[in-house]
Amino acid sequence: MSETGFKKVNVNLPGSGSPNISYDIHIGAGLLRSCAPFLSPLLKRPFVAIVTDENVAQAHLESLTQTLDSAGISHVTKIMPSGEASKSFTGLETLVDWLLDNKVERQDMVIALGGGVIGDLTGFAASTLRRGVRFTQIPTTLLAQVDSSVGGKTGINVPQGKNLVGAFHQPSLVLADLDVLQTLPDREFRAGYAEIVKYAAICDRPFFYWLESNLDALKSRDSQALSYAIAKSCQTKADIVTQDEKEYGARALLNLGHTFAHAYENLTDYSDNLLHGEAVGLGMAQAARLSVDLGLCPETDAQALVNHLASAGLPISQTDVKGGPFEATNLVNAMAQDKKVSQGVMTFILMKAIGKAFITNDVSAKQITTFLQNQG
Ligand code: NAD
Ligand code: GLY
Repeated sequence: MSETGFKKVNVNLPGSGSPNISYDIHIGAGLLRSCAPFLSPLLKRPFVAIVTDENVAQAHLESLTQTLDSAGISHVTKIMPSGEASKSFTGLETLVDWLLDNKVERQDMVIALGGGVIGDLTGFAASTLRRGVRFTQIPTTLLAQVDSSVGGKTGINVPQGKNLVGAFHQPSLVLADLDVLQTLPDREFRAGYAEIVKYAAICDRPFFYWLESNLDALKSRDSQALSYAIAKSCQTKADIVTQDEKEYGARALLNLGHTFAHAYENLTDYSDNLLHGEAVGLGMAQAARLSVDLGLCPETDAQALVNHLASAGLPISQTDVKGGPFEATNLVNAMAQDKKVSQGVMTFILMKAIGKAFITNDVSAKQITTFLQNQG
């Protein structure tokens, strides 16, 4: 895609007593090699601290550092181990030590070059360093381009559960380069696709039809199809986050499938047995089936969603997961650690139809246990 093919989505958050927070998400091919004009105006001095992981460093770090060198921007780089384990107190300590040792100043810019793990960890480190430094997201997985790099949720995992320690800290810029997706393993690509389907299922039925028609193009990583799907996803997320940055209401919709997903991730020890996006795919399939069981959603809609997830190669039942099926009571116990639990009551995002998701506290632990016992 040429430069003229770039798409831009703006996120503009009303400041409470302070100026609005506004940043752009740029989407297009070749952005890593042409990042300087986007980055330079945001720098107080020609210096950035880059955080990435081993896999991304091997595939894409040189493109970034060469571009920065050409633009006269000096840089230091921290390469974290790839994988969820870096999103931990140990990983955070390592990273913050390194940022301080490298004298990263309050006005400096930190760059997260990687997937959701690097984005979440770097964003959290940036939020705490000197009480908050700015950071740029350069997401390199499909999941990070459509979800984790946007909206300012940052954090780490702890033994009690996923993302239980963190902060809201918005990036100053997001650069989603379509070219970097070409090196992404198929399984990671499919996992990221689940988050795209999520936006359609939440609030955009025409987008769901578009996804059905364009699944083959998306699977073959066609730039035009990807650019449309990524921009549409980012716009939907931006709209929801603008309404409710800190998740007191509507933002919880973005957790469609996640109450289930976080429980499966917990029971598979956040391991390669189940990637986050895969867990979201399975979680959405179950949220749709639960919605039908409760008489809230037409069977045809749930079936269309489940069929689409299956066509995309995502797990749609517990037996698709290594180590599954799981004890219903263990799943429900894991759900009790969900961040959306309030006064001991679980929150679920369910569907009235594809494109009409809603938030409810009306599902009891008994109902969910029975539902899970009847699921494969
Ligand atoms: P990830 O960051 O672990 O990346 C997946 C794998 O792909 C890693 O091995 C990574 O090294 C590799 N990789 C990344 N980009 C690559 C590329 N271009 N080419 C080759 N390999 C590449 O995982 P993820 O799926 O991107 O993110 C998952 C994390 O995101 C979870 O921790 C989840 O909790 C978090 N998340 C956060 C939010 C949020 O709003 N902050 C939203 C969704 C998910
Ligand atoms: N991924 C859910 C959110 O950002 O709110």
